[in-house]
Amino acid sequence: NLRALIGPSILNSDLSKLYEESQKLLDNGADYLHLDVMDGHFVPNLTFGHPIVKCLRSKINNAFFETHMMVSNPEQWIVPMADAGVNQYTFHIEPVTNVEEVCRKIKENGMKVGVAIKPGTPVAEVEKYVNISDMVLIMTVEPGFGGQKFMEDQMAKVQYLRDNYPLLDIEVDGGVGPATIDCCAKAGANMIVSGTAVIGAQDQSATIKLLRNSVQE
Ligand code: DX5
Ligand code: ZN
Repeated sequence: NLRALIGPSILNSDLSKLYEESQKLLDNGADYLHLDVMDGHFVPNLTFGHPIVKCLRSKINNAFFETHMMVSNPEQWIVPMADAGVNQYTFHIEPVTNVEEVCRKIKENGMKVGVAIKPGTPVAEVEKYVNISDMVLIMTVEPGFGGQKFMEDQMAKVQYLRDNYPLLDIEVDGGVGPATIDCCAKAGANMIVSGTAVIGAQDQSATIKLLRNSVQE
């Protein structure tokens, strides 16, 4: 049975307090942490890499860490991220020539595999890898920045995957919050990334609950 899981993105939090912000999200009911890694090349922005993830892990030892690798060479960071204590390595397939090889290497290093596509990439491109990965991420904004508008047209991809793979973990990321969650739930997403909507909420715990209940029913 598929569980509804809420993974807040800390991208738009106060990163000078990365640990405090992360712990607060977990205390408020986050099921996992979605860590946005950007290289300034695959996307026009920079965030942080494995040294910071490792520091965060040293203070938080019991939470599930997913790194969303918005990088041109995802293969390069598999070993460092595994060493930093990452549980799931989600990477974009667009810049990768041998996706199977990257998936294999991630598993070899003890992490779960997520495969991600940008809004412009057809779902058929990622469907090829459904049976060698643990999760598919359908982006609902152009990757690079938090706080963008949710792209509803991406729900056709989620719906297609859900219709054909009833047990697949499908994640949505970008512009997801109380205003757009029903749309995601209806299409069949069960792993929900939410950045600004959760970080900026008056009541984080209530917002996380609301998101989870909207998916769970
Ligand atoms: C975008 C990132 C997302 C984003 C989520 O490149 O991958 O994780 O920061 O933030 P919101 O929910 O504000 O769009
Ligand atoms: Zn992300």
